[in-house]
Amino acid sequence: MPSSRRDFIRQASAIGAGTLISSTLPSSLAQQVSAQPSPTPIVIASANGLHAVVKAMEVIQTGGDALDGVVAGVNIVEDDPNDTSVGYGGLPNEDGVVELDAAVMHGPTHRGGAVAAIRSIKNPSRVARTVMERSDHVLLVGEGALRFAKTHGFKEDDLLTDKAREEWLKWKENLTTKDDWLPPHDENTQDIGGLFAPFYRNHGTIHCSAIDLKGNISCVTTTSGLAFKISGRVGDSPILGAGLFVDNEIGAAGSTGRGEANLINCSSVMIVEYMRQGKSPEDACLMACQRIVDHNRMRRLKDDRGRPNFDVKFYALNKRGEFGSASLFSVGKMAVHEGKEARLVDSAYLYKR
Ligand code: GLY
Repeated sequence: MPSSRRDFIRQASAIGAGTLISSTLPSSLAQQVSAQPSPTPIVIASANGLHAVVKAMEVIQTGGDALDGVVAGVNIVEDDPNDTSVGYGGLPNEDGVVELDAAVMHGPTHRGGAVAAIRSIKNPSRVARTVMERSDHVLLVGEGALRFAKTHGFKEDDLLTDKAREEWLKWKENLTTKDDWLPPHDENTQDIGGLFAPFYRNHGTIHCSAIDLKGNISCVTTTSGLAFKISGRVGDSPILGAGLFVDNEIGAAGSTGRGEANLINCSSVMIVEYMRQGKSPEDACLMACQRIVDHNRMRRLKDDRGRPNFDVKFYALNKRGEFGSASLFSVGKMAVHEGKEARLVDSAYLYKR
């Protein structure tokens, strides 16, 4: 059963949901949280990662590093033309061009790499890894990211499938004044955004985290981002601390959903810090959800009951191999593989849809 908001508030009250918590802990507590590494490998992912967790586990069980596993896992989804939220076949921007974002983090070396708004490359997660391993930078964007990828032998492809193009055309043909270009507005403005308000836009993405046979943790997040976005828009996925974060001694976290809400809350690093404080992965994810709700001040981003009119989901794994996920609205799922088989598990949530 997913946890409800009430359970969460009770459990979280000691720590103060929605408040920013310092990462500086008494070392005894930090040691206690990190002292018991998971004895067995585990892989978690967003719900579209059922095949990804199987592949990642296969790589890890044959001795691969957690990062080898999660990147091989998400490559399956990036290559899948039927997943319109990631890689090849992802829904394009408002100009009909597919632009992808991805990031990786490697726990044992605490390094990260990312690309944003990269065109024509099917596997941005592999380019993100190459940025980490073969440059002194962390994030490359747009034309520069593409040039870097080509320098390293990545081949260009047309990423726009007919299915994605037709969906884009339908969106374009039905546009009225309700698009992303907003007139001047303030906190109390409501009637803009209309049908195309954030709740109704595609925010797919895949996040995958894993612990390998050595107890090391790594993760990846990859996406084609918000459907029909303004060209050049970058979401949370390639931003370390927002779309994903790892501390090899504590755990990993990642996100899917409305990137804008996550970018202004840096939730993945917060989730890892909440886990450092001793919170379970699920409670840490719920606290990140609550923090987004607490910071959501703009009227155009609220429903009639004052709740967000968008969703965000978080996935977390701690050093002991415990995992959890949560979203603002019911009922999300996450994919899990603990060594035998892949399964979907219900996520906790703040609000019943
Ligand atoms: N979370 C994916 C995005 O907003 O781009």
